[in-house]
Amino acid sequence: MLRYCYMADSQPMKQTRRSIMMLPEPRIVEELSWTERGLPQKERTRNVHGLHPYLGKYVPQLVDYFLDRYFRGSKYAVVDPFVGSGTTLVETNIFGVESLGVDVSEFNALLSRVKIAKYDLHILTKEVSSIVERTKREFYSASKGELDSYISEEVVSNEPLDHVNSDYLRKWYSPEALYPLLIFCRLIKGYVYEEALKILLSRAARSARLATHYELDFPKEPQSTDYYCHKHDRICHPTSASLPFITRYAKDSVRRIGEFQKIRTDAEVRVECADAREFNFSKSDIGGVITSPPYVGLINYHEQHRYAFELLGLEDRSSQEIGPKYRGNGKSAIEEYKGNIAQVLKRIADCGIHEPNKIIIVVNDKFELYTDIALMAGLKLIERLRRKVDRRTGRRSNNFYEDIFVLTS
Ligand SMILES: C[S@@+](CC[C@H](N)C(=O)[O-])C[C@H]1O[C@@H](n2cnc3c(N)ncnc32)[C@H](O)[C@@H]1O
Repeated sequence: MLRYCYMADSQPMKQTRRSIMMLPEPRIVEELSWTERGLPQKERTRNVHGLHPYLGKYVPQLVDYFLDRYFRGSKYAVVDPFVGSGTTLVETNIFGVESLGVDVSEFNALLSRVKIAKYDLHILTKEVSSIVERTKREFYSASKGELDSYISEEVVSNEPLDHVNSDYLRKWYSPEALYPLLIFCRLIKGYVYEEALKILLSRAARSARLATHYELDFPKEPQSTDYYCHKHDRICHPTSASLPFITRYAKDSVRRIGEFQKIRTDAEVRVECADAREFNFSKSDIGGVITSPPYVGLINYHEQHRYAFELLGLEDRSSQEIGPKYRGNGKSAIEEYKGNIAQVLKRIADCGIHEPNKIIIVVNDKFELYTDIALMAGLKLIERLRRKVDRRTGRRSNNFYEDIFVLTS
């Protein structure tokens, strides 16, 4: 069926919805259709990409492909208005080009900043082991070496729990898992790399929840008894401690940050926590966009890191998420979504985009919204590519297609 058209990069023709509808099917790009074996998780989560889990990130190798194809030697910044966990920024920095990332979630902005920061590894290593040791010391002395006495109501109802006073934390953690998290949280202030410690704490907090292994992204109810685990195909126990996670992730985080420091360049990189519909992009000289926008009615981006919002006291701006899960994907939600994404893209385009002037949008466009969005934003379609995503994790097998729109202003 003829539907989409590819044009010479330099001469995009004037487009209307009708002319776009006459164009051929998107081309499946084999070299981007990695299999699980061809691009294993270890590679997709290399260096700082694996600092903290994040549902909905794209693979760094995809960003590399478009950087290499269009942005080699670019003097102008690559912008990601929906930066999520910072994938675009990390790869663009390694590539040696300036970048700017915006995200409405304070946790995502924090995670991105921690990934792309410059570190003195000696100080980082010292600070990480200092806070881990202090947390252990305080935890064990509080229990006077006797976990049983520590777990008693009397000790648990002491300062740390009251200090946070969060129903969520009380519900999702056993007392002996929560207590070290609260101690760690209180000790963070004053360290040079406070933000990196916050991410380490969040990662341990995610793993230490009373969640089943097969529901870690969005657990429904706390699990306090043994259960049949669909992910591991055996009986698993709910976790009742956080210190082992803190200790393990401490080492892993320092290693990952160390790996990135070896390939980090001095190309400027900036992260802002803001609603992209209102953000003033004009402070950067923009050369293009590489992004994967929020999906329509699928993921609650704040809720997936709720433990971090509760522990760290981050501001909840979920009401500003585009395509929020609670709105679903009915007709009016979809129209609103199209208008919102178009508004962000137009806002960037209105700043004036320098050469190479490429806007790369990676999206699972199953509702076929993005040709309309491009027209609404006044952008021209250069090319539409498609890649097969063949991913098997545990018992999940989720094969699907992802579209990549190459646009220009
Ligand atoms: C698909 S994710 C991006 C993932 C990213 N490419 C990565 O690799 O981590 C979409 C992001 O858009 C963000 N978002 C949703 N509404 C937003 C808004 N109004 N302004 C800025 N960011 C928004 C979400 O918080 C989420 O992090």
